Amino acid sequence: MALVTSELMLEKADREGYAVGAFNVENMEMVMAVIKACEELGAPAILQTTPSTVKYAGLEMYHANVAAAANKARVPIALHLDHGNSFDLAMQALRIGYTSIMIDGSKLEFEENIALSKRVADACRPSGIPVEAELGKVGGKEDDMSCDDPGYTDPDDAVKFVKETGVTSLAVAIGTAHGIYKGEPKLDFERLSEIRKVVSIPLVLHGASGVPDEAVKDCIRRGISKVNFATELRIAFSNGIKDYLKEDPDVFDPKKYCAKGMANVTDLVKEKINVCGSAGKA
Ligand code: 13P
Repeated sequence: MALVTSELMLEKADREGYAVGAFNVENMEMVMAVIKACEELGAPAILQTTPSTVKYAGLEMYHANVAAAANKARVPIALHLDHGNSFDLAMQALRIGYTSIMIDGSKLEFEENIALSKRVADACRPSGIPVEAELGKVGGKEDDMSCDDPGYTDPDDAVKFVKETGVTSLAVAIGTAHGIYKGEPKLDFERLSEIRKVVSIPLVLHGASGVPDEAVKDCIRRGISKVNFATELRIAFSNGIKDYLKEDPDVFDPKKYCAKGMANVTDLVKEKINVCGSAGKA
């Protein structure tokens, strides 16, 4: 089916108490591998690209690739700009046909974050394209952005932020970080519940690679309806290729070693779909 927007997908997840998996893709192989997992489990999904991924191959390339794969799929797929880092990039993604946009003003001062997020939400609304924004600072390194000084989302700020920006979903900072964790992450579950009590739009969990499954499930029970996975997919894909090349160092057909990377990604995405509870929700 044609690409869908993420809004109804997330509202349904929110109502029914599961989360939609949002998977970062870097190339055609990862797109195919993620969608294969979704089809096998009958799960809706969001495929997303960060600004550095976009720099690698261009918005048009990812849009054409994901739209072609989604058209053939029997499950709903949305294409999301992850961590959009400027108004201009958000508008380019909108024009090219991304069906979900994130504007990440979390490194800005509160009022500046409100102004930027509102500007993007206002610009996307006439086309019916949903906008995710972030309040608080998720730690770690994603893309070219790193954050050594995470700041948790304040529930009262979240109320004001959502009201003034008109965004349709909110990424919250409750102790997760992008990339690999050193040790087990300590999440502030109570804070998440407090935010859920006062904010009615769908909530998003970033930095889910390496978070124990039970912790992700607890976050979903407390009101998260989109969970982002990136690093673990990159590792799974790369490890598949490394393993293949170790076994057969003379191989020169990319179709052969990429197939192993893709199989790893499909297996991992199926595990994550089960953690999210989105199997059979297409
Ligand atoms: P991880 O790389 O930790 O999975 O984070 C993904 C993410 O939040 C993308 O926005």
